[in-house]
Amino acid sequence: MSHGRPGDLILMGPPGVGKGTQARLLVDRNGWVQLATGDIFRDHLRRKTPLGELAASYMYKGSYVPDDVTVGMVRERIAEIPRETRVMFDGFPRTVAQAEALDEILAKQGRAIGRVILLDVPRDELLDRLASRATCSICQAVYSTGHPPKAPGICDRCGGAVVATARPDDSPDVVRKRLEVYSDQTEPVVRFYDARGLVRRVDGVGDVEDVIKRLLEAAA
Ligand code: AP5
Ligand code: MG
Ligand code: ZN
Repeated sequence: MSHGRPGDLILMGPPGVGKGTQARLLVDRNGWVQLATGDIFRDHLRRKTPLGELAASYMYKGSYVPDDVTVGMVRERIAEIPRETRVMFDGFPRTVAQAEALDEILAKQGRAIGRVILLDVPRDELLDRLASRATCSICQAVYSTGHPPKAPGICDRCGGAVVATARPDDSPDVVRKRLEVYSDQTEPVVRFYDARGLVRRVDGVGDVEDVIKRLLEAAA
């Protein structure tokens, strides 16, 4: 990387692989910024903005929000992040068109992707995780049967109440569709970055802290 600036990171992998879980912990500990397109859409939805309503019509079916909408939103968000701050992209880019647009956006700002981390978890475990999702009612940290809070019902990070929170798109039918869309539209993005030698594959099974260690090694 030129000028010693560490490149930005992309966290990739199918629904339920742990992108959000890992990204939140990593930004907390390293002063990075997480840019999670799914979280931004859900935030718009909570605030009932037109963008939120548009996004929901796709999310609830398990299909992707159109590229121009998603890219426009990311362009605005990146512009607010100081150039020295390392960005951890979570759930973006998800199509080759988004990846190409991201290159252009980053180049204009003197930024670049330094590493793409691909988390890997077997399909059966993905299905289990998404069927048992629980979330902190205060900080939105996520839990599941395989990753429960240390004290039952109490968030490890902030002490908030942990409540069962299947998302509307966690129903078995929609999860199946999300996995299908991932193979069709997002696996080509892995090949796009593989061709540049940027991808590191990381085993996403096991204790969250072990996954973080593997991830940090791969990101270095
Ligand atoms: P998005 O919100 O990005 O969802 P996703 O990637 O489909 O899946 P998740 O967020 O469920 O998975 P995750 O990998 O973050 O796992 P998590 O940490 O939560 O996207 C949702 C929708 O928004 C899309 O379908 C699309 O419609 C739209 N969208 C978003 N971005 C878009 C884009 N770029 N373009 C177009 N449309 C876009 O963990 C899952 C569960 O596993 C949790 O319960 C957690 O506690 C548990 N868990 C995590 N780690 C472990 C572990 N090590 N062991 C055991 N359990 C674990
Ligand atoms: Mg997520
Ligand atoms: Zn919390």
